[in-house]
Amino acid sequence: MKQETLSFPKGFLWGSATASHQVEGNNTNNNWFLWEQTPGKITGGARSGLACDWWNGRWKEDLQHAVEDGQNAHRLSIEWSRIEPQPGKWDEASIQTYREMLKGIIKLGLKPMLTLHHFTDPIWIYEKGGWENKETSDRFVRYVEKIVPILQDLVDMWITINEPTVYVFSGYMSGEFPPGKSDPKAAFQVMRNMLLGHSRAYRAIHRTQPQAMVGFAKNYRAMLPARKWFPPDHWIRTFSSNSFNNAFADTLMHGKLKFALWKESIPEAIGTQDYMGVNYYTRDNIKFNVLSAKSIFQERFFDPDAELSENGFIATEPVGFTESLQWAQRYGVPIYITENGVEDSHDTMRPHYLITHLYQLQKAIQSGMDIRGYMHWSQVDNFEWERAWTQRFGLWGLNIETQERIRRPSVDIYHDICTQNALPAESIARFAPELQQKMDE
Ligand code: FCB
Repeated sequence: MKQETLSFPKGFLWGSATASHQVEGNNTNNNWFLWEQTPGKITGGARSGLACDWWNGRWKEDLQHAVEDGQNAHRLSIEWSRIEPQPGKWDEASIQTYREMLKGIIKLGLKPMLTLHHFTDPIWIYEKGGWENKETSDRFVRYVEKIVPILQDLVDMWITINEPTVYVFSGYMSGEFPPGKSDPKAAFQVMRNMLLGHSRAYRAIHRTQPQAMVGFAKNYRAMLPARKWFPPDHWIRTFSSNSFNNAFADTLMHGKLKFALWKESIPEAIGTQDYMGVNYYTRDNIKFNVLSAKSIFQERFFDPDAELSENGFIATEPVGFTESLQWAQRYGVPIYITENGVEDSHDTMRPHYLITHLYQLQKAIQSGMDIRGYMHWSQVDNFEWERAWTQRFGLWGLNIETQERIRRPSVDIYHDICTQNALPAESIARFAPELQQKMDE
């Protein structure tokens, strides 16, 4: 048996990712706070509440763990609604809290990667029509122009918007996120306005910090035609992938947004991406079904043989990860994995998920792809949007009653990977023995 060490490039960033609303607690001035108060919107009527209590300083405990766990980077987000609680009114105390947090993160030895918009909007933005309103892009840029000069001595890796397409699909097609609409025309407008917001924010950041690395985080959903022999399945797969996976990112390449039935030229989007942030979780099989008009003639399902997560939200599909990397590569910029992980409160599936995905990542790097970092979702269990506390993505668990952190076995597995900057042969043998055979071939 070969004991090959699967190493990663020198300087590779190993970290975890979080988002403000999911960890801070007491975020009472954004649209998710309103959504959580609306009956029927959140599983079990749960609320984010104190979340992981980061706003009171518990980020120190979690990120101290991250460092002890061998990580050298952390992806986090700041909350627009705290920084600009009212139009044009800046909350200096919140800005200082974020500065202190970032200074502390750097002092701990973690390189921060900062997201400026992760799903939440200030209530005043929401009341003005959110991102359906074209002015929101410029209001977003005004916030970016305020905060970037203040943080630029601490941060040089920025994510403008997290998963714009998930924001669009969940808020304006399936309706699980606020504002809970099912309106393709509005979805198109939001996509267009987010593209404008991203592009202008990209330029604003570079005006302050020419050397900055600026990108967005893309949730890439791998998709397979369910029946390889049936052309309509291929057609519906291409249609879905074009709107979900390609529309936003392609516009940054050629300036032409194509989404469902609509098109618009957005030349100012061209070239506004210094790297591609990839969030990858799973892969679907897609079938054409003339009876599912509501879901645009498609049926989606996981491979019946795939290992499924606790709530059936994720199937372990590491080959889909490779698909996402190949896709990301066509944009011609370096790649960072900005999220990847699985909901698993008992930590029975995470070790296998982690190892098999990092195996694909290492192979991709070995084949010549320029991939520079991996942020695991997440460091600690946190508030999973409309699924609330039913999904446990943390390397560390969280008792929401007591705020106690619970160390999961995956912490040690990830520790060895981060500190060795490699996928140790013993971890492969123990948690994904099927890969050992592949390596021997
Ligand atoms: C992603 C989100 C992130 C988290 C994970 C599980 O779509 O960006 O906030 O909820 O899913």
